This record gives sequence, C-alpha cells and structure tokens, in this order.
Amino acid sequence: MELCVALDLPSAEENLALAESLKSHNIWMKVGFRAYIRDGKPFIEALKKINPEFKIFLDLKLYDIPNTMADAAEEIAKLGVNMFNIHASSGVIAMKTVMERLSTYENRPLVLAVTALTSFDEENFSSIYEKGINEKAEQFAKMSYENGLDGVVCSTFESRAIKDATSDKFLTLCPGIRPFGEDVGDQQRVATLEVAAQEGVDFPVIGRPIYRDEHPAQKVEKILELI
Ligand code: C5P
Repeated sequence: MELCVALDLPSAEENLALAESLKSHNIWMKVGFRAYIRDGKPFIEALKKINPEFKIFLDLKLYDIPNTMADAAEEIAKLGVNMFNIHASSGVIAMKTVMERLSTYENRPLVLAVTALTSFDEENFSSIYEKGINEKAEQFAKMSYENGLDGVVCSTFESRAIKDATSDKFLTLCPGIRPFGEDVGDQQRVATLEVAAQEGVDFPVIGRPIYRDEHPAQKVEKILELI
C-alpha cells in the first residue's frame, strides 16, 4: 500500500505547512478541486519544491466530451503530476481517447476512474444509472480495465471484488480510511488500515485523521510503520 494524504485544509499556506511537516516521506499528496481551483499550478510546483519525490494525485474527476477530456489530460500530463482521475460514466470513447492521447507521453500519469460517488444512496444512484451501486461499480471497473485505465477510485469494501473481476494489478484507491478507528466524520462506510490491507487496497486516502491530529508527522510515521 502507498499512503495518499488528502490536502483538504482551507488555505494553500496550511496545506503547504502540512506538506512541509511530512517532507521526509516520499508519499502521495491528493490535490482536490478546491485547492486546485484556488491555488492552481503554482501550488503543484510549491509541493514539488518541498519534496521533489512527493507523488501528486490530482483529484479533478474529469467528465466532458472525449476530445475536451483528452485535451485536459494532456495539460495534466504537462503539469508533471503522477495520477489523476476521470468519471467512468464519461464512457468508453472518452476512456480510449484519453489513454490514446497520453500514450505519447513517456512518463504519463496513472489514470483512475471514479466508479460511484460515495455520496449517492441506492435510490438516487439508480435514478441515474438504473442499476444498484455495487453492480454498476463493478461494471464501470471492468470497462475501465478493458480500456486501458490503471485503476479505480472505490470503497475499500469493493476493492477485492473489483480486483477479482479485473486483475490484481488493477489499482484501487480508497478514501474513507480511519487508520486506527478514529472519528468517522461524514464518512459512511469506513475501514481501518488492517481491513484495507486485507481487501488489497493499493492507495488508502487519508485526510482528517492526519491533518486534524496534534502531530501529523508522527501520525504519518505510525501509519507508514503499519503499511
Ligand atoms: O478526511 P478524510 O480522510 O475523510 O478525507 C477523504 C478524502 O477523500 C477527501 O478529500 C474526500 O473529498 C475524498 N473522497 C471521499 N470519498 C469519495 C471520493 C473522494 O471521501 N468517494
């Protein structure tokens, strides 16, 4: 497993201070919508400056027409980030177009697909996708695998079934991890790191249990010892 820390603090300064405190570890940093819209490319550059070995996951969940998505994917590749994501529901042609466009990049970023947003309940999900969450998430994962993506964003509890339906090497990135059973906050189905390991999760994404801890660096060390 490779730890991915969610940089979800309210300002660039706070996120960079957190990154600074974690700079002795070559871990993944998740840059989301809020941070990227507010702080943009200079923020990515500032993170790389703090530790050039930090790996960056740009969590922008692209969804648009295939050509526009491929254009955006190319710009993301030029930013030098290591991983980004698209919505699986953007479809097969979008997936193929994005992967084809990135194939010319020597060190292309990993591309993950979002299967089902965890904020959906069954009723709202099926009103859009006309299938249950688990069934559709697995179908989306297979579609992503068959079209050359590197993995999916999913719940820890779907990780094993998705790997069984695709390949052990097909990556799963899972939020909703409470390493040592910390406060769940607004997450619905949370897993400890031990469960994440059992379920074959490749990237546990952890935010609040790290940045809300009194000593984030020590917390990360404890997590890294465990994984
Ligand atoms: O603070 P916490 O560890 O719950 O943070 C989890 C991170 O993963 C947040 O950045 C959240 O937006 C993100 N995320 C999530 N559930 C998803 C997709 C992303 O919690 N389905």
